[in-house]
Amino acid sequence: MSKNAKALAAQVRDLAGSEPIEVGLVLGSGLGHLADAIDGVSIPYDQLDGFPQAHVSGHDPKLVIGQLQDARVAVLGGRSHYYEAGQADAMRLPLELLKTLGADKLILTNAAGSMRLDIPPGELMQITDHINFSGLNPLIGERSDARFVPMGDAYDADMQAGFTDIAKQEGITLTPGIYAWYSGPSFETPAEIRAIRTLGADAVGMSTVPEVILARFLGLRVAAFSTITNMAQGLSDEAISHEHTKAMAPLGAEKLEKLLRRYLTRD
Ligand code: HPA
Repeated sequence: MSKNAKALAAQVRDLAGSEPIEVGLVLGSGLGHLADAIDGVSIPYDQLDGFPQAHVSGHDPKLVIGQLQDARVAVLGGRSHYYEAGQADAMRLPLELLKTLGADKLILTNAAGSMRLDIPPGELMQITDHINFSGLNPLIGERSDARFVPMGDAYDADMQAGFTDIAKQEGITLTPGIYAWYSGPSFETPAEIRAIRTLGADAVGMSTVPEVILARFLGLRVAAFSTITNMAQGLSDEAISHEHTKAMAPLGAEKLEKLLRRYLTRD
């Protein structure tokens, strides 16, 4: 683990206590309010040396350490994206920190556009696999052999099954699907969406994939969810915008919060 992550972990333990973290959570656009629901200690990113400063409206750049249901969690209220500064590994230090604090599971959330008419805005998709449509990789430049990360089981089967069961019990539709990473920050063209769809993706967005690669590199088990905020470009007459994404994300967020709380509750 990097020296920087170890130093940050010591700083976080000083502020929030040394009990190990069990689960890390990364909140996507419009999902930030969950960070405020946690009983714990909140640390703005600008107090965390070397942390990428999140510069996307709808994200809340703070780390919250505390209790969510029966689990001790670390919540990243904002994420950094490749499109902010051209760094595919922008989330490496935050994820290294979670791992150093003890996390072995990582739950990622995002807002995404859907290419499936049966997963309309307001619905949730459980990501079962991804297509890296950007061609970028956060491990480019990593020197150790650990960079050759197998991705066959990137999305943890047990975690997926757990969430699928909970969704059934709660009567929440949670559709499995494949997420494509598009670098952004411009949205896709209709032709790009047709291409991505033809390649087999069900939803498209500008995040998450680099974090999954980094998390697997670090040995974290991953579950990831998209809240669908719009139909992808060309599939609906509705205009696509970041404002629209932020306005629509809370629809799915409420259901996602229910699933997360149940998942973190020990029966
Ligand atoms: N494309 C890319 N990213 C997104 C979209 C989309 O349609 N909706 C929300 N995030």
